Amino acid sequence: MHRHRTPFLVAASIGALLFTAGMSTVRSAGQDPPEEPMPGSKMTRQQVLDTLGSDKPGTTVSVERGRQLYEDLCSSCHIFGDVGTSVGPDLTTLSSRFGKRDVLDSILWPSRTISDQYAVTIFELTDGTYASGVVIREDARAVYLKNAEHLDRPLPIAVGRIQDRTESTVSLMPEGLVAEHSLDDIDSLVAYVLGGK
Ligand code: HEC
Repeated sequence: MHRHRTPFLVAASIGALLFTAGMSTVRSAGQDPPEEPMPGSKMTRQQVLDTLGSDKPGTTVSVERGRQLYEDLCSSCHIFGDVGTSVGPDLTTLSSRFGKRDVLDSILWPSRTISDQYAVTIFELTDGTYASGVVIREDARAVYLKNAEHLDRPLPIAVGRIQDRTESTVSLMPEGLVAEHSLDDIDSLVAYVLGGK
């Protein structure tokens, strides 16, 4: 398998495909525009991380609000307790692996660390269309993909239809998930996924 940079259009259409309601911005190394403050918090991602990751963030946390936000923004891809779908890792025991700053980092910069298990592969097909998702199995005849439309029953792509395959540098998890949300909201969401503390 070879790697090269994901073409913007492919990545953008995949973002749209996988998360139609979300805003997904594709970054490519070396050409990042200066970071704009997010509308909900009026802060850049780094400022949100520094503020909420500090000892006294000055926010009002509501775990109930965090639960609502989790259901709206995250449960389409993650399981937490018994709510959600498993496209991404199960978050139930997240607090045993992640501190607050790690969670913020994952939410604000989803593509910084992508574990192999969840890496997205983009297939260019012989008819000029694309298919993408996490490869869960492959044999001599087909590759089986899991993506937002094919969760329970993986999508088989016949080997003969595959023109090219590229590993995406963009996470399935979209950027900008909390861009419209206030600091209180973001802190509440993090408190919820870290176990309601
Ligand atoms: C479109 C699917 C999707 C949505 C929506 C989504 N995620 Fe993710 N998330 C993923 C995938 C896939 C991964 C694993 C790959 C990666 O790290 O990028 C992941 C990784 C994570 C991780 C790292 C977990 C670990 O064990 O490494 C955290 C934390 C996380 N997501 C939290 C959230 C939260 C909180 C939300 C809601 C604000 C959310 N995600 C929304 C798909 C999604």
